Amino acid sequence: MTSSAYTLPKHGLPPEEVLQRVREFRANDPTFERGQMTAYCMMGSHDLQSVLEGAYRVYFFQNALKRRFFPGLRQMEEQLREMAASLLSGGKPGVRVKFTSGGSESLFCGFHAAREWAKERFPHITQPEVIAPYSAHATISKACHYLGLKLTRVPVGKDYRADVRAMEAAIGPNTIALAGSAPSWPYGKIDPISEIAALGQRRNLWVHVDACVGGYLAPFVARLGYSLPAWDFSIPGVKSISADLHKYAYAPKPASTIAYASEDLLKYHNVSASDWPTATYLSEGMVGSRPAGAIAATWAGFHFLGEEGFLDYAKRTMETKERLVQGLKRLGMQPWDTDLCLLLFETAELPAEAVVGALTEAGWPCMGTQRPPMVQLIVDPLVENVVDEYLVDLERILRQLRGGKSVKKGDLGYAD
Ligand SMILES: Cc1ncc(COP(=O)(O)O)c(C=O)c1O
Repeated sequence: MTSSAYTLPKHGLPPEEVLQRVREFRANDPTFERGQMTAYCMMGSHDLQSVLEGAYRVYFFQNALKRRFFPGLRQMEEQLREMAASLLSGGKPGVRVKFTSGGSESLFCGFHAAREWAKERFPHITQPEVIAPYSAHATISKACHYLGLKLTRVPVGKDYRADVRAMEAAIGPNTIALAGSAPSWPYGKIDPISEIAALGQRRNLWVHVDACVGGYLAPFVARLGYSLPAWDFSIPGVKSISADLHKYAYAPKPASTIAYASEDLLKYHNVSASDWPTATYLSEGMVGSRPAGAIAATWAGFHFLGEEGFLDYAKRTMETKERLVQGLKRLGMQPWDTDLCLLLFETAELPAEAVVGALTEAGWPCMGTQRPPMVQLIVDPLVENVVDEYLVDLERILRQLRGGKSVKKGDLGYAD
């Protein structure tokens, strides 16, 4: 350890001082509203936040790994799984859900199940492959890496959605699975899942839908009358769906779900170990110890909002996005036509990195998409409070950049 390393203090501090120090760190970070829109937190509303915090605190220290010790918690998780299944099912009976820690774990579990399913059906395949559009989330690359799956990314079509013909052309003798997004993170568009699933059925492949962003928003947006491409289990051939609760079910992290089309697919999800001195070990997903607080808070959020609350949040999200789209157009920016809550805009004659850099400097830390270069915003009901302020700041920033002001370029990606 170098001499400059931060070390454990010798003496403990009084509780109020500790909390004060934590608050001081927090004061360097974006406010709820700004953080939601540009730093990706999905918080819904302040009222909801306090309900979630209260519920989390009730189960703050419990470990959801050992559910039989906590029958109350088990019941809450069971109810959550059933509510989640009904939202993701598109009316199809028999959908089964597991509660996970985030999109990364949900995708890991989904592709793990696909690999185990394929092992049983195609034992001759020793180097299984997955095909996904270029726009699929980076965590799919990670999951495939961990699972020893070869991932082929296929260029998207002119509409920036999965090009299903190109995906079909990429299928080889070792292909076991196809994936699509609802919507994709870099482009905000829902892939043609019906076509991907039909292809999967024709070629006997597992089909995974990454609905980490849209899974808990799209059902409500559709009910408001917006037209969306189909993406859920109502499509025959979809075998698994990842959908994050800590995105548009507004749950605190870590909370996500991996859902399977039917009970019989759960055997490919579960990994039970008994080759050790203690008896059988079986956990909900890939992780072991889990925060019970996240389950309690997610349950609380579902019950605080109810169907009406989810619909109201979906409506406000879509209306707020439209306000931003109109405002961005007025400033000469080029917002894309996205399906749900992700808003991406091209920055006309200015480099997107410069706009991101200047926004970050002005207290709107954000990122974007690199190919093509765009700035990204994430919209939820909380954002309605800051749209005007954001547009005023952006107008000033654009004027300065157009006037030749030099600025430290921002990072469009996730390297840190
Ligand atoms: C489409 C999609 N899939 C997966 C993930 C990864 O989710 P997490 O960060 O919860 O692991 C994200 C995160 O933004 C996402 O947008």
